[in-house]
Amino acid sequence: MLTVGIVGLGYVGVPLGVGFAEAGARVVGVDVDARKVTALAAGESYVEDVSSERLAGVADRLSATTRYADLAEAEAILICVPTPLTPNREPELGPLRSAARALAEILRPGQLVVLESTTYPGTTRDWLVPLLEESGLRVGRDISVAYSPERVDPGRTDYTLRTTPKVVGGVTERCGRRAEELYDVVCDDVVRVSSPEAAELAKLLENIFRSVNIALVNELAVLADRMGIDIWEVVDAAATKPYGFMRFDPGPGMGGHCLPVDPFYLSWRARQFDFATEFIELAGKVNQQMPYYCLERVERTLNDVERPVRGSRILILGVAYKSGVGDVRESPALKLLDLLAARGAELSYHDPHVPSLAEFGLTSLPLDALVADSDLVLIVTAHPSVDHDRLARGARLVVDLRGVTRELGAANVVRL
Ligand SMILES: NC(=O)c1ccc[n+]([C@@H]2O[C@H](COP(=O)([O-])OP(=O)(O)OC[C@H]3O[C@@H](n4cnc5c(N)ncnc54)[C@H](O)[C@@H]3O)[C@@H](O)[C@H]2O)c1
Repeated sequence: MLTVGIVGLGYVGVPLGVGFAEAGARVVGVDVDARKVTALAAGESYVEDVSSERLAGVADRLSATTRYADLAEAEAILICVPTPLTPNREPELGPLRSAARALAEILRPGQLVVLESTTYPGTTRDWLVPLLEESGLRVGRDISVAYSPERVDPGRTDYTLRTTPKVVGGVTERCGRRAEELYDVVCDDVVRVSSPEAAELAKLLENIFRSVNIALVNELAVLADRMGIDIWEVVDAAATKPYGFMRFDPGPGMGGHCLPVDPFYLSWRARQFDFATEFIELAGKVNQQMPYYCLERVERTLNDVERPVRGSRILILGVAYKSGVGDVRESPALKLLDLLAARGAELSYHDPHVPSLAEFGLTSLPLDALVADSDLVLIVTAHPSVDHDRLARGARLVVDLRGVTRELGAANVVRL
């Protein structure tokens, strides 16, 4: 039976491990966070895309541990640890370094190691390979190493691990072939590229494409407001073009572990080639400004009813970084909470996916009573389970940053 090791049991590692287990492999997951290991061992999933029922279905094939030594029997080891930025917006490869060092202690000849974490071109060959070779094993001769970017989109159900093509680039031809054979077990379509660098940059291109297009529509949203044009009507109209246009919606800014972070891995790397990645910087700047612009819209809306922000009861509806998930990493809602708190607003929030926000001392409160009690409802993230039209009818004032009330045409609703 194929045995696959997964290093890093988070949003990426858990679904990937479950995918391999469902395809019949034995899966050994390693994480430094003992709470996650205990939860998985108890059959409890903390990743929304994987239900505890799905986990129960593979309980006999999937195990979790904090011990790297348990990966000794794995034919393939997939690294899915975080790749965040330092406070100076430089790549923070600490988790990857510890994982690689720990792997170097236990690697055996014949094993395949694949990096799935998002990173800059050159990480796998120039940075990961030397760390793994501290084992005394040589890549291409004793072990194989490849890069294959993760494409999971939390909350998405129309594409799965099996139906989303998987890009793979090996350090050598043989490394690539081995990685391709591995992913053939769980993916219908494996796309081989000639090198890890091409695969690393392909992932960044995908995320930069999103970041730049979101920034473009956000900039136009600010302009449209000044011109008195409804941006949602404009986007809806443009999206009727059957070719040459791809829809992106404006919003309060970018969140999550990927879009606000990954593009800067490339900007950082580009500087070492005397190259300035201007699209990335500009998109980052525009998107980072959006919470400030949204704050201004709240201030204007309250101003129109002769209220200051200070002392106003503002309900933030949706604090996750996107619809349908409970992840608040880099969520623009957190920035808005900060900005509104600094101006003296009395804040509360409701999010069916986020029970509490410890850093703000807030817990998600039941919606109906909150709406009636608030001076303004700020729709930051529109979860599908919330009836926004009904809520807007019962609210005094609504600022809708997601365009979900655009069919309503109510006088108490202001849209981005
Ligand atoms: N979340 C997404 O939607 C998504 C999508 C595509 C790509 N990615 C990329 O995948 C990677 C992982 O992201 P994630 O969202 O799953 O992160 P995550 O924080 O949810 O999970 C990472 C896990 O790695 C563990 N970890 C940290 N250091 C470790 C070590 N040395 N050894 C073992 N485990 C360790 C952490 O405890 C955590 O459980 C990142 O590079 C990210 O950019 C994420």
